[in-house]
Amino acid sequence: MFTLIFKAIWLFMPSYTPNNFAVITGGGKPIDFGRDFIDGRRILGDGKTFRGFAGGFAGGMLTGILQYHVEMILGFHFFSSLDFYQALSLFTLLSAGSLLGDMVGSFIKRRLGFERGKKAPLLDQLDFLVFSIILASFHESFYVLYTWQVILVGIVITPLLHRITNFIAYLLRLKDVPW
Ligand code: CTP
Ligand code: MG
Repeated sequence: MFTLIFKAIWLFMPSYTPNNFAVITGGGKPIDFGRDFIDGRRILGDGKTFRGFAGGFAGGMLTGILQYHVEMILGFHFFSSLDFYQALSLFTLLSAGSLLGDMVGSFIKRRLGFERGKKAPLLDQLDFLVFSIILASFHESFYVLYTWQVILVGIVITPLLHRITNFIAYLLRLKDVPW
């Protein structure tokens, strides 16, 4: 069980870190250019910016590449069971999926009338993971690494991990609210 939990956290790391990097790099022009949707509310809101997206994507890629090398050094092989370029395409899908899911989550939140930054339990905690999984499922090696057990454990433990990391970001004053 422990190894399964470790494996799930490890394999979803490039899905987790983009949102943390987005918090650090975010700001500037919002992706929706400040525009409203037909319901009169913002399309995505000021919390989704180009800089956050770019920084988040770079952060996810960096995380995966770092993990790949750590595996090589320590001699265990999840990502590094793939050749480097295969791994890069997997990190791309995981990182982009994570940021896309986060945007879809914000889109849904705005449609439900939640102001930017308002807490939406489960939606906030799983939107990025679900889209990460959907995009990564197009990767040729997805099913070899992400068994149904890994996916299940990932979905169950992520809301918990999400709460812990956001609370740390709040304590470090990187986020205004502890969620
Ligand atoms: N961020 C960003 N661009 C992104 C994603 C995140 O700039 N694509 C930054 C923003 O500064 C945002 C912070 O990361 O405020 C936290 O992200 P998140 O919690 O997803 O956004 P919220 O501000 O809570 O907005 P929402 O209600 O839409 O989730
Ligand atoms: Mg939020």
